[in-house]
Amino acid sequence: MDDTSTTTLLVRRETRDGERRVAATPDSVRRLAKRNVEVLVERGAGQGARFPDATYEDAGATLVDDDRAADADLVAQVAPPTLAQVDALSAGTVLLSLLAPHRHLDVVKALADKGVSTLAMDLVPRITRAQAIDALSSQANVSGYRAVIEAAYALDKYFPLFMTAAGTIRPARVVVLGAGVAGLQAVATAKRLGAIVHVSDIREAARDEVASLGATFIEVPDAEDATGEGGYAKEVGESFLERQRAVLTEHLSQANAVICTAQIPGRPAPQLVTQEMVEAMQPGAVVIDIAAADGGNCALTDVTGTVDHQGVRIIPGHDFPSAMANEASALYALNIATFCELLVDEEEGLHLDVDDDVVAGALLTHDGAVTAPRIAEMLEEDA
Ligand code: NAI
Repeated sequence: MDDTSTTTLLVRRETRDGERRVAATPDSVRRLAKRNVEVLVERGAGQGARFPDATYEDAGATLVDDDRAADADLVAQVAPPTLAQVDALSAGTVLLSLLAPHRHLDVVKALADKGVSTLAMDLVPRITRAQAIDALSSQANVSGYRAVIEAAYALDKYFPLFMTAAGTIRPARVVVLGAGVAGLQAVATAKRLGAIVHVSDIREAARDEVASLGATFIEVPDAEDATGEGGYAKEVGESFLERQRAVLTEHLSQANAVICTAQIPGRPAPQLVTQEMVEAMQPGAVVIDIAAADGGNCALTDVTGTVDHQGVRIIPGHDFPSAMANEASALYALNIATFCELLVDEEEGLHLDVDDDVVAGALLTHDGAVTAPRIAEMLEEDA
């Protein structure tokens, strides 16, 4: 094989506390080999997701013991790099990772200063061509499913309706806040388990999607469609949120489980459940807050663990993809491999086409600058 056509990809072992996912699997290594991508895997990288080192070797990867980022053309990881990991990268290296850039401005700046080309997996545009690369969707699906399973496990009551000789058991009532990717998966999962599901969202399109899954859309008086750029929600004002909370209070007081998934990209999550609303809920009910990392939809959410407030448990759900590390990694690794296929030609090797829509949308730092406008703005405000 000619050296010029071989591209080296380093798969890092995750270092963030509690992160069990990995950015490549033996299957994705095999797939990348077809593009002449030589994969280096840090020893133990797949352990948390149950992909043993030997399975990577069998797939053709080389195991490495130290951070070989300096020699790699591409580096792939799940959680945002630490500053030390950024330091180990070389100028011109292409990094593929989830970044949550609005929460890691120091890391973004360090990546730009280092001359790294960063493709943020959470900035991949939501366009049809990029669907197989869309890591936010693949991981949000896992979160939405797991949130309902956690709720069902935490409750001391059945989800489905049961007619038994001893009497009728009423189905659980579930309220889902936010009907994006995670929310719709939560609705579908809760419906499959037999719950009665009500849903709140602020995008007009969500109404039909909710109805098509057999759930009921919660109407807020004088609501306006808050669909923003790229199909995402726009931030809504406090007066709308107040009206929304008033309507939700009634629904929540009857709910056994509340699944919080409402988010605004790059901003704090909207606060939809106040302490008073929790106090009006039934003891034994649970709030599962997937939006926890961005501040949560519930005022009482604690990102470090479950809070019990007057018998209502509030469970942070930002780490659910890591809790289902095997499946979540398989999906994420596919997202990464598909992105690499867009960047690497079998004969020509790596070429970062910054005019390509998908590359341009995901490009966070390049040539020493921060290339995502909103993040560049935030850095300026921060300076
Ligand atoms: P997200 O994680 O940013 O937000 C989740 C949900 O929270 C959204 O549905 C949003 O409308 C909702 N939300 C925000 N503020 C709220 C409030 N005050 N009350 C209730 N709900 C609130 O969004 P996600 O899940 O990443 O995607 C959102 C949309 O993006 C999708 O529904 C779809 O329209 C679009 N999308 C398009 C894709 C494609 O074309 N390939 C793939 C994935 C998503």
